Amino acid sequence: MQKGDREFKNRGRSMFRFVKLNRVRAVWAAAALTLALALAACNQVAPIGGTTEYTRVHWTGAVSDSSARVVARLRDSYRSLQLEYAATEDFSSGAQVLEASKLVASPNGYLAHFQLVKLRSATKYWYRFRIGDSIDTASVSSFTTFPSDGSASDFSFVFGSCQRTGSNGEVYNNMLRHDPLFMMVTGDFHYSNISANNVERFYSAWQSGLLSPRLSSFYAQVPIVYMWDDHDFGPNDSDSTSPARAAALTAYRDMVPHYPLASDSRLSPVQQAFSVGRVRVILLDLRSARSPYRSRGDDKTMLGVFQKQWLFDEIERAASTHDLIVWVSSVPWIDDRYTSDGWTYYRRERRELTEFVVKHNLQNRMCMLCGDAHMLAIDDGSHSFNSDAEGPGFPVMHAAALDRGGSVKGGPYSHGRKAGAGQFGRMDVTYSATTLDVSWRGYNLKDEVVMSYDFSVERRFPVNGKK
Ligand SMILES: [Fe+2]
Repeated sequence: MQKGDREFKNRGRSMFRFVKLNRVRAVWAAAALTLALALAACNQVAPIGGTTEYTRVHWTGAVSDSSARVVARLRDSYRSLQLEYAATEDFSSGAQVLEASKLVASPNGYLAHFQLVKLRSATKYWYRFRIGDSIDTASVSSFTTFPSDGSASDFSFVFGSCQRTGSNGEVYNNMLRHDPLFMMVTGDFHYSNISANNVERFYSAWQSGLLSPRLSSFYAQVPIVYMWDDHDFGPNDSDSTSPARAAALTAYRDMVPHYPLASDSRLSPVQQAFSVGRVRVILLDLRSARSPYRSRGDDKTMLGVFQKQWLFDEIERAASTHDLIVWVSSVPWIDDRYTSDGWTYYRRERRELTEFVVKHNLQNRMCMLCGDAHMLAIDDGSHSFNSDAEGPGFPVMHAAALDRGGSVKGGPYSHGRKAGAGQFGRMDVTYSATTLDVSWRGYNLKDEVVMSYDFSVERRFPVNGKK
C-alpha cells in the first residue's frame, strides 16, 4: 500500500470512528433529553383549570365560612354559562347550578361572577362549568370554606409577592404541597407596569398569569386573597397620580374575586378585611390613594383619609371580636431609610398608626405581613415601631420573591433577611386552651425552611359560647 493510500485509509477509519462516536453521543444525548423532559413532566402538576371549553381562565376568592366567589373569563359566545357545585367530587349528590350574578362585557371575553352562598363551613366544595346539559369536565376546581366565624379551628395558608408577568413559577408546585386554605398575594401579581388607562390591559395581565400550567393548576385548587402593589396597579412606584388609576380600580372590581369593599364607588381604594375563625385579616390598598413620595410637605399619605378612618374603625371592631389581627402592607414597614416604596416618606402617617396601636394596647394582638422586597425576613417586634414609639411592637414577616430575582430592603429584622427567587411564607394558626399560637415559616425554592418564628397571643374573647 502506498503511503498516500495508507494515510487515506487511516483517515477513513478515523472519520468512521468519529462519525460512529458522534452517533453514539447523539443517541445518548437524545436519551438524556427524553429522560429530562419526562422528569420535568413528572415534576409538573398536571395542568387543570386555565383554558377550558367555555372559559379562558377562572379563579376563586372571597371565601368565608359560608360563601365564595368565582370569576371566569369566558370565551366570547358563552354568556349563558352556568356553574355547578357540590360537596362531593363526583357531583353525585346535592349539586346546585348557578347562573352568573354579574356579567362584565369585554371585547376579548365577558367576565362572569358566580356568588356561592349558604355553604357549610370547613367543607371542601368542587365546581365545574356547564351550559345546559353540556358539562365542561376539564374545568373541575375546588376550594374549602373557612372554619365558622368565632370558632377556634386550626388553619394554615401561604403567602408571597412578586412574580413575572405570565409566570409559571415552580414555587407554585411547592406551595400546593402545603395544602393551604388560601394563597395570599401581597402585591406584584405581574410586572406589566401599565400606564395606559385601559381595563383590557389589566384583564390580560392577570389572565396571562392564570393561563400558565402551574398557576392554573394551583388556582383551580386554592382560592386567592389578593392585594396589589405598584407593578400590578400601575407603573413602577405608582401612586394615586397613575394615569391608569381608574382602569386599575375598575378592572380589579371586574375581575378579581375580592371581599366586600368599603365603598361602592368604582374609584375608591380596594382595601378589604375578612375573618378566619378568630383571626381578622386586613388588606390595605397602599397604591391607589397614595400621594407621590416626591411631593413636598409632611402630610403625605399612603392610605388617604377615607381608608385611614376605615382602618381605625376596622381595627377597633376587630379588637373586640377577634383574638388576632393580621394586617397586610404591600411595602416594607420597618425602614428608616428613604426608599420610594416604603413607609419612611410617609412616616407621619406611620407614626399615627403606631400610636393608635399603642393607645389600644394591641401590639401583642397584631402581626403584619409585607411584600415588595424580594426576600424572606422576620422581625419579632424588636424593630417594628421604628423610631415612632417605644418598642417592642408587633411581629412582621416578609415573603418574596415568588418568581423574580432577589433583593433586600429595610430592616433591621431580628431573625434576619434572605434575598431570593422562588420563596414564600407559610402561616399556621393553632389553638391551645388559653392561647392562639402562630407559626411562621419562610421557604426557599427547594421547599426548605430558611427562617422561622413562633409566637402566641392570649385568647381573650369567648365567641359562640366557646372559650
Ligand atoms: Fe416586586
